[in-house]
Formats: sequence, C-alpha cells, structure tokens
Amino acid sequence: MFDALPLLPADPILGLSAAYHGDTNPNKVDLGVGVYKTEDGLTPVLQAVSKAEALLLKEQTTKTYTAPAGIAGANLAAQRLAFGSEHSAINGQRIATVQTPGGCGALRLAAELIKKTRTNARIWVSTPTWANHMPLLGSAGIELIEYPYYDFERHNIDFDAMMAALDATLPGDLVLLHACCHNPSGADLSQEQWLAVTELAKHKGFTPFIDMAYQGFGQGIEEDAFGVRVMAEQLPELVLATSFSKNFGLYRERAGSLSIVGEDAAQARAIQSQVLSIARGLYSMPPAHGASIVDKIYHDQALQTLWITELKSMRERISQLRSDLVAALSQQQSSRDFSFIEREHGMFSFLGLNVSQVQQIKQGFSVYMTDNSRINIAGINKSNVDYLAKAICRVI
Ligand code: LMR
Repeated sequence: MFDALPLLPADPILGLSAAYHGDTNPNKVDLGVGVYKTEDGLTPVLQAVSKAEALLLKEQTTKTYTAPAGIAGANLAAQRLAFGSEHSAINGQRIATVQTPGGCGALRLAAELIKKTRTNARIWVSTPTWANHMPLLGSAGIELIEYPYYDFERHNIDFDAMMAALDATLPGDLVLLHACCHNPSGADLSQEQWLAVTELAKHKGFTPFIDMAYQGFGQGIEEDAFGVRVMAEQLPELVLATSFSKNFGLYRERAGSLSIVGEDAAQARAIQSQVLSIARGLYSMPPAHGASIVDKIYHDQALQTLWITELKSMRERISQLRSDLVAALSQQQSSRDFSFIEREHGMFSFLGLNVSQVQQIKQGFSVYMTDNSRINIAGINKSNVDYLAKAICRVI
C-alpha cells in the first residue's frame, strides 16, 4: 500500500538541526531552529520550570485523564497573559479557551473549526510568514491568500501595500497576524498600525487570527499583547493561538492554547463545545505536563516573579546580541547597512542573503540558517559573533 510514497526532503526549519549536528567543523554556528540559547549555546530548563516540576512531582496523585479542555489553571493563565486580567472580553466571558498541543496544535484546531464553520473561508497570510503556517492551515483545506508585509529592500513593513491588499478582504475572511516578534522577519506592527488594521477589520468585516508564539520576547509581556488586546476590545470576534514553547522554554512539552473571542458568553460556550468536539476527533485531549507547569508558575507569586525575571533576561540578551552583530558587521565592512537588525524584535531577522549565498555560508563556514536567510539571533554569542560577521561579509 505505501510503496508508491516518495521520500520527502527534510523540513526546511527542523531539518537544519540534523545537518548542524552532523557537521564536524568546530567553528560551526547554528542559527536555524527558533530556540533560545545561552552564551554556551545551550537551551537549559528555566529555573522557574524546574522548581515547578519539583513541586508537581511531589504533589501529583494521579495520571488520570484531564478535562477535555486541559488544565483549567493553564487556560486561565493563557487568557490573563494574552488579554490582561481586566480585559472586557474576560469579564464578559466572551472567550473560549482550550489547551492545545503547542501553538501548532492551536493553529490547526482553529483551522479545522474555521473550515467546519464556513467551508469557503479564506485566510490571508503575510508574505513572508512562518514556513509551517501554510501546511498547518492549508491542510485543513482552507484557501490561503498572501498579503504583502515585509519589504526586503527597505527592511521594513510595507504597511501601505499591506493595507491596500487587505482592502480586498471579504466579510468572513480571516487575516493571520503575528502578535509580536514576526517570524521570520522580526518586523512588528507599531501600535498605530495595529489600530489602523483594527479599523480596517471593522470596516471590511474580516476576523483577525493572531498567532502569539513569542509573547515576552519582543518588548515585554504587556507590550507584546497590545494588538491582541485592542482587537479583542473593539471587534466582535477574534482567533488567538498562543504558545508556551518559547516564553516558558517548554518546547518539547507541547504546551499552548487556542482562545476564540465570541460576541457574547453564549456564543463562547458554543464555540468551546465545537472546538472540543474537533479536538476529540483529532487527539482527544492535550498533554498535561507542560500546561501544569504553566499553571503552577502563574499561580505561585514567587515562581511567577522568577519566571518574569528569566524571560526578561532572555529578551534583553537577544536585544544585546542584535547590537553586537550590527557592530561586528560594521567593523568588517561599510558597504551594507545592517542597522535594521537592531530595530527588529524577537528571535529572528533576515540577513538579506540570496539562496546561493546561504548555501555558500553553510558550505564554506558551517553557518546554518533557513534558505531565506532568516537567522535565530539567540544562536549568536560573544565567541562566534566575529566569525559570523566575517563569514557574512565573505559571501555578500
Ligand atoms: C521556528 O520557527 O524555528 C520555530 O518556531 C520552530 C519550528 O517549529 O519551526
């Protein structure tokens, strides 16, 4: 039965890890998969997470099934982190939140709900967007339409082009937006731009579908949620996928959540029942461990404070690395201005190399990045930044 299946190429992002690990060059640099790394190139368990895990281990009495929506305390944490504890949508019980297997699970579950609700729904996605958005959303059978976002020449958002494209949306369409730390460009909407997109959504009748995978890595937990909060305040409906992979460092635990804001509490309850029925048909219920850690940390004042401090230090280190790279590049050459890297946010930025230059830097210098020259800034450190800057200058 399966003999006709061809071998597929490695995943464009995850496949980079295997290639990097197989490389014997002692100077190799891993700027591929978006995971946070320390100065030593490690991705340690956050202290707040280790402490929470120790408590969980001591307190746990059962491994029986959780509720279909997952760990209630984690869903509460997800809502409060994303919307803020006093948001009108929370107070009005307008939000249906379910725990999901990571942010990917949330995106896919939302796509299934959208397809079930409206067979001809279309989702507008930014050009460029995270490589896995297309398979996650497209596999649900939804039509995807691209809207211009990042201007590779000016290293900025082409906001006029974005708004002009979104002017062609139809009522019932969804527009996928990155809450913060746009993956892959690092170029985020300003508060004024969020307000303008909100006005356009009101006027055109599209529903925002926001992916918030990096809350706390951009400008701060509250700042990074500006778009989510303002849109949920001003629009009747909103879809939000959140992930705890990066901000709690829980990557392999697959902890995330899907929140859907409805017009009122009754609609939110109906949405919740529909989402749970779809999840039951896909994977029954989400894994508990990662979400239990989030619940524990969020609801313990000391652990929450420790987590916020650790998140801040990850954010500040990435910001410092952006400046270090820009300084190292301007020491090596003056023909190209890389200062845009300092103005962007989160783990990623584009270097602006073409595919052939990306191959050259990989083959000649063992520097690993995705083919579109997206780099994970967290993979830079004091020992490799000069080597990296020299390698970049050699290939441009
Ligand atoms: C990335 O963009 O590198 C991360 O979100 C990891 C992934 O699953 O692609």
